[in-house]
Amino acid sequence: MKSYIFATAAVTAAILAACGGGGSSTQAPVAQYPQNADMWAGLGGNANAPAAVAKVVDDAVAGLLADPKEAPYFAHIGMPGHDSIGRLKACLNLQFDALFGGPYSYPGMVTADGTTQMCDDMTSVHADVGVPSCVFDQFITDAAAVMKADGVPDAYVGRVAPVLVGLKPQILASNPQYLGPNTAANCQ
Ligand code: HEM
Repeated sequence: MKSYIFATAAVTAAILAACGGGGSSTQAPVAQYPQNADMWAGLGGNANAPAAVAKVVDDAVAGLLADPKEAPYFAHIGMPGHDSIGRLKACLNLQFDALFGGPYSYPGMVTADGTTQMCDDMTSVHADVGVPSCVFDQFITDAAAVMKADGVPDAYVGRVAPVLVGLKPQILASNPQYLGPNTAANCQ
C-alpha cells in the first residue's frame, strides 16, 4: 500500500515558510547526483535530456509489461491504492532524470493524472510487490538494454546501472512472491 500526498498551495507555502523560504523566491532545484552532470549535458541538457529519459522510461515500462517474468508484478497498476501508469512513469522519470545528473532529486514531487504528488521511497513502494532476486536482475538487464537501444552511450549505462543495482536491498522482498513462470527453484 502506498500513501499519496497531494500538494496544495497552502501546504507548499507552509513548508517553504518552515524552511525559511517563502515569498516569491523560487527554490533552486537540487541535483542528487551532481557528479553526473556531464551525462545530463551529453543527453542534451534541460532542453532535450528530459525527452531522451522519457523515451527510455516509456520503452522500459512497455518492456516490463510485455515480459512474462516481470509483468505479473505489475498486475495491480491502476487499481485503488496502487500506482496509476501515469504516476509510475512520472516517478520513474524523476528518478532517472536525477540519476542522469539532471537538477532533480528522488523521491520528489511529480505531476501525474492532473495532480501534484510525492513519489515514494524505494523501500516503501516495493514493500508489498514481492520482488525475487532473479526478477530484479532481469529488470536491470532489460533496463540496460533499453537504454542502449535508445541511444544512451555505453559509458553512461555503465555508470547508471551500478547505482540501480545498489538499490536492490531496498527493492527485494523479504518474502518473495513467485509469480508467472518464476518459482523458488528457478528464480533466486
Ligand atoms: C532498480 C530497480 C527499480 C527501480 C529504480 C524502481 C523504481 C520504481 C519507482 C520510481 C516506482 C514508483 C514510485 C511511486 O509511485 O512513488 C516504482 C513502483 C513500482 N515498482 Fe519498481 N523499481 C525497480 C524495480 C522493480 C522491479 C524489479 C519490480 C517488479 C518486477 C518493480 C515493481 C514495481 C511495482 C509493481 C510498482 C508499483 C507499486 C504499487 O503501486 O503498488 N520495481 N518502482
